[in-house]
Formats: sequence, C-alpha cells, structure tokens
Amino acid sequence: MDISILLCKEEAKKEKPEDSKLSFGKMFTDHMFFMHYREGKWQDPRIIPYQPFEMDPACSVLHYSQEIFEGMKAFQHPDGSIHMFRPYENAERMNLSADRMCMPKINKDLFVKAISELIRVDKEWAPNSPGTSLYIRPTMIASETFIGLRPSNEFYFYVILAPVGPFFKDGFSPTQAFVAAENVRATPGGTGEAKTGGNYAATLYESKKARDLGYPMVIWLDSIERRYVEEGSGMNIMFVIDGEIYTPPLGGTILRGITRKSIMELATNLGIKVHEERLDINTIIEKISDGSCSEAFFVGTAASITPIGKIYFKEKEYEVNSNEVGDVAQQLYDELVGIQTGKIKDEFSWTYKVA
Ligand code: COI
Repeated sequence: MDISILLCKEEAKKEKPEDSKLSFGKMFTDHMFFMHYREGKWQDPRIIPYQPFEMDPACSVLHYSQEIFEGMKAFQHPDGSIHMFRPYENAERMNLSADRMCMPKINKDLFVKAISELIRVDKEWAPNSPGTSLYIRPTMIASETFIGLRPSNEFYFYVILAPVGPFFKDGFSPTQAFVAAENVRATPGGTGEAKTGGNYAATLYESKKARDLGYPMVIWLDSIERRYVEEGSGMNIMFVIDGEIYTPPLGGTILRGITRKSIMELATNLGIKVHEERLDINTIIEKISDGSCSEAFFVGTAASITPIGKIYFKEKEYEVNSNEVGDVAQQLYDELVGIQTGKIKDEFSWTYKVA
C-alpha cells in the first residue's frame, strides 16, 4: 500500500495506567489516526495527537446518525511483539456497514496500514497482563454541515486506541442475562447487521431495565415472532446442547461477529459440531431446565467469551450449568485467547504482527 500517512507527534505524553487498574474504554492513548472524505475521495491520512473535534451543530451525524464503527483488539505476545487479530475481517465488515449506510468504502490495505502505524507510534501503551489488550476503535461519521435527509458528501474516518482490562469487571466468569420481552433490537430489512450506532442506541432502554433488575446483559429476540434468539447487546450468542454448539444464523438482523466466526472455526477444529439454526427461546429454556442445554455464552471482540450463568425469562430466573463456567466455554476461551496472546501456535494465521 503506497499511500503515505503523515505523522504529527504528541510531545506531552499522558500518564499510562498500571495494567491492574485498567477498566474498559475509559482511557485513550496519545495519538489518533484521521482522514477526511471530500470531493469524492479520502484525503490527507495522518496520525495526530489525540484531540477533540470541533463540529458545527448542524453536522449531519449529530442529527441523522450516519455513522459506523468497528471493534478490534491488539495483543502483546510473550516476546514483546504486538499483533492485531484478523484486521482484514474488520476492514471487510466496515465496508459492508459503509455500503448499508451510504458511506464511502476504505481501501482494506489502507485501513490495516493506518491502524498498524498508529499502534507502532503508541506501542508503549499496549498492556501485557492476562485479560488486558489494546482495544482499537475505527469510526466513520458524516461530517457535512446541513439539515436534510440525504447521505452526507463529507466524512471523517478516525481510529482511537484504548488500553483495556476485561469488558465485564469480573473477567471470565458467568454473567446474567435478561431476555427482552418489550422491545426489539433489529428488524428484517433494517440495519441490524451493520455496525452502526443506532443499533446500539436501540438497546439502551431494555438494557437499563435489565440492569436495574441486576442483569448486566440482554438477550434479544426476533421482531416478528418474538421467540427466536438473535444476539446479546453488541455480542453474538451460543448455546451448548448435548455437547454441540448452536448459534442463530446470520440473516441481516444479527452482527457478523468476527469472534463468532473464529469460535465456530475453532470449535470445528477441536471436533465440536457447530449448528447455525434458529433457536426458539422456549425450547432453550426447556433444555436448560432438563440439563440438555449445559452452557450458554456471549462471544464478541470486547468481551471475548463470556459465560451466561443465569437467564431471566418471563419473570423467572433459570440457572445455566449451576452458574459455573462450562468446559466448552473454558476450552474455547483458552484456545482463542492463547492464539491472540501468542501463547498457542496460530495455525489459522489470524494474528497480524504490527510491532
Ligand atoms: C465490540 O465487541 O468490540 C463492540 O463493539 C461491542 C461493544 C458493546 C463494546
């Protein structure tokens, strides 16, 4: 990729946190990547000191939410090198989201090069304790100043980096999930598959209700029959039934998770059968109650694999696997994180060395 990226270095460095004090998404590194789309092309790619934007109050993203983003991670390996996880998959998904939201695509090599150079500039921010990583947030927003319902002609694309600890404060241990009965996250023909902010905003009402009842996560059902499991808020979902993995199929309403895809490939490689099938919540609850559904877990970039220990459905709570981490989740977690952190040989060529 021969596009050159200008580097304007930040002299005043922020204080870096100790790994043990890291939470998720609260602190950002010294630099960011930025480029501007105008006159039909991406212009002036550059790495600049991390800074706020100045935005006109009529900027179109602020009114009609024409925005997309990605979630990615880089990990420090035992030899000190830093590796992203499957960055070309994110480049591809960003372009799928861009297409759905009438936004310009980004050359995939430029996407990966921009992030790689940014990580190299801020590499001393990459944490290396277990459970930590460098979270990468590429984002594209409509930046034209106008009020009116049409796609913007100008966009910002930027990337910020956050040294992070576990997404859930208790790390790899069972969480509790609330099945949304009142609202839906996405509808057929809508934008559910795109990684766009509106899909996440749509989850807030039910998520708040769930949290107020003591459930950190929501399980979303389909919008037509209100009984087929779709995903968690910002994460895909899997169940272990009679020793095999079941996950809802991608059908336009569910995020095309890269962790989802990786777990399916890892499980198959480990000899665990994987089914992509519509899953009726009533059947899942029956199978949890009779013990044939022995595990449930969320999978996503931010949260990796998160076992589900309790599910609240129609005013009743059901315990999964006695609220313990199951063997399948443990095995897949060890494999996935082992590959990401360079502790297990990467037979799949998923890790991408940047520094
Ligand atoms: C991610 O997994 O990277 C996401 O964007 C999900 C979000 C809930 C943090």
